[in-house]
This record gives sequence, structure tokens and C-alpha cells, in this order.
Amino acid sequence: MSSGGVVVEQQQSSWLVQRLQASAGPQSFVAVMDWLLNDPAYGYYGSGQVRFGSGGDFVTAPSQGPVFAELLARQLRPCLDALAAESGPLTLIEWGPGDGQLMRDLIAGIGVESPAWLDRLELVLVESSPALQARQRQTLAGSAVPVHWCSPQQLAAEPRRGLIVAHELLDALPVQRFGLQNGNWHEWLVGLDGQQQPCWQVGAGLAPAVLEQLEQLGLPPGGGGRPDGWSSEWCPALGPWLEQARACLRQGWLLAIDYAMPASRYYAPSRDGGTLLACREQRTSTELLRDPGRMDLTAHVCTTLVEQLAAAAGWRWQGAALQGEVLLQLGLAQEITALSEPGPLALADRLSRREQLLRLVDPHLLGGFWWLLLESDSATPPQRPACPPAWWPS
Ligand SMILES: C[S@@+](CC[C@H](N)C(=O)[O-])C[C@H]1O[C@@H](n2cnc3c(N)ncnc32)[C@H](O)[C@@H]1O
Repeated sequence: MSSGGVVVEQQQSSWLVQRLQASAGPQSFVAVMDWLLNDPAYGYYGSGQVRFGSGGDFVTAPSQGPVFAELLARQLRPCLDALAAESGPLTLIEWGPGDGQLMRDLIAGIGVESPAWLDRLELVLVESSPALQARQRQTLAGSAVPVHWCSPQQLAAEPRRGLIVAHELLDALPVQRFGLQNGNWHEWLVGLDGQQQPCWQVGAGLAPAVLEQLEQLGLPPGGGGRPDGWSSEWCPALGPWLEQARACLRQGWLLAIDYAMPASRYYAPSRDGGTLLACREQRTSTELLRDPGRMDLTAHVCTTLVEQLAAAAGWRWQGAALQGEVLLQLGLAQEITALSEPGPLALADRLSRREQLLRLVDPHLLGGFWWLLLESDSATPPQRPACPPAWWPS
């Protein structure tokens, strides 16, 4: 990396090269990540190239089977019970629903006890990729509960009472890369080198508002002792997204589940290079500009940033907890114990279910996920569920 534009990632001419050639100079990675993921013609999600599951590019908790949704439904049901104390419609919104598997399995899990309010429930999916919307329509065809696809603007025009679930959405929001150059924080841009190949370039110093935000996350001007060249990323899209999500909900809760960590770990001096990764065929790489539009790109969520931005966006921060801690409260250990006894399931199914459960808490697989809970900051706060999870202050 140098301010002159040293080649970091080589590749043949591509739509990304053409896009950069047509741009007025090097571009922020915020724009480039948005192209790579969301471009309707070439983006990994936008064009529908994403492949979920063990036979695809990466495994998510919903893509490995219904077990995750069954446990999550135990968290959501009491929240909907509490909201149902007041009359009127209830809405379960999923933002960024991928293949639609989570919503399909959630509604099966929520409906299993036939709650009295089930006929007041509607499902809403918020999906930016038309290609993925088409997959979701297939997955959810024949749903007993009415399903709608809405834009954030449509929801904001008619805000709902209910829950928003965002599973592995926030890690796909575009991030800004930055690094220390001669003792100052500079943005890292994507430009073209002498051979017209995409490369990283050091851009201008970060804007004062960004420097202020980074300082609140523990990254002071001058770098706080970090060496020159040290780099990371942050998510400028998070604040606007929290505001957008809040505008969609008149009353209720937002549950975001994602790869995450607090700022003290995210921006630890030892974590040089940040958390951004590209993922394809179950392999991760830091070569973010290779195979444009054919790899997933993901950056961890900074839980401290969500907490800091929550109030200004109209949310009350309720807390964050590791997935394993929450799933244990929701009965994961009992599920595993029950599977060791002969029961209605065949042995092969019991073993498969047991493996799915263990993967959800294995720190090397899906156990590094965090659950982040926010409550709408409305004039009439939602009634708390009768059995609150541990992160809800009493
Ligand atoms: C990593 S996938 C997660 C899919 C699914 N939730 C899962 O966990 O299997 C990210 C999903 O969010 C969608 N997405 C990304 N940015 C979005 C945005 N701003 N608004 C709505 N959907 C978005 C993608 O198209 C995709 O469906």
C-alpha cells in the first residue's frame, strides 16, 4: 500500500475495471462494496449470484436447517405475546431475508402453539435484491400467514407494531476503510494502477465528523500508539439504517444477529487490517477486489457503534449477548440432551439435528455471533415479555 497506488490485488479486466474507468478518480470503498454486493447487474446479492448453504459459498444458521429458527421463535413468541395485549395487527419484519428460509422456519416455529393472535399476524420481507425477492417468493409460497414484500419507504408510510429481525444483514452494509498515514487517519480508496487493475490507494484525511466518531470508538487522532499503515473499517451506513428501521416500527423491538464484537476488540492495536473478508466456496480471503460480484463481502458489526448510535435513531439499547449464551437460555442444552435418547426421530436425523445445534455455539463456526436487542423509543413503550431474556434490564 502506498499513496502512489501499488497493486495489491491482480485480476483480469472486469466490470469493476470498467466502472472505475468511468468514474472521476478513485472511489470510496463504501461505493465499491455497494457495487460489489448490490449492483443489480453484477453484484453478488443484487444479481442473485449468492449461494447459501454447505454446497454454496457460505453457511448461515438458517441455511443449515430449521433448528436455529425453532430456538429463535422461542425468543420472538413472548415478544409478540406482549404486543398482542393491545388489539390490532402485529407484524414480523425480516430485513435482508436471503433465500427466505429463516422466515419460513420461523413462522412454523411461532405457529406451533397456535397463539391466539396468529390471525392478526402479517409477515413483511424487506429485500433490496429483486433476484433474491424471487427466491423468497418461491420459499414462502403457500404460507398460511400473509406475506408482503415492502420497501423501507412503504413501511415508513405505515409503520407497524411488531418485531424486526435482521440476521446477517448488518455485516453486508458497506463500510469505509481507513488507515494511519504519517500519524493521521486517511481513507483507503479503490483506484486503478498503471496496468488498469483495481488497487488500494490512500486518499484524503478523514472528515472531522468521522474522526470524532472514531475517537468515540477508541481510535484517537494520531492513532493512539498504533503503527503507521495500521488499518481498519467502520460502517457509516449503520446510523442511517437504524433510523430507517426505526421509522418502520411504531412500537416493538429490533433484533439484529450477526458476526460482531465490541470496539475494544474490534479496534485493538493487534487487529491490524480490520475484519473485512471475502467468501467463496466456503473459503475466506482478504483479497476483496478479486472476482468482483462473485464473492460475499462481510465486515463484523461493532456492537459499541450500534449502542452509541441507537438513541439518536430513536431506539433504546437493550444489550448484546453472545449467541451461545442466548441459545442456552432458550433451551439448547435440553435439546441436545433430548437427542441422546431414542425418540420419534431416526438416529441419522437425531445426529444431524445435534450437529446443527452444536454448530450454532461452536466458536469456530456460528458461535461467534452476537444478538443485539433494541426497543422502540415510543411514547408508549412496548410491554415487556413475561419471560425476559437475560439482557433485558428488570
Ligand atoms: C448475508 S445475506 C443474509 C441472508 C439471510 N438473512 C441469512 O442469514 O441466511 C444478506 C441479505 O441482506 C440483503 N440485503 C443487503 N443489504 C440490504 C438492504 N440495504 N436492504 C435490504 N436487504 C439487504 C441481501 O440481498 C441478502 O438477502
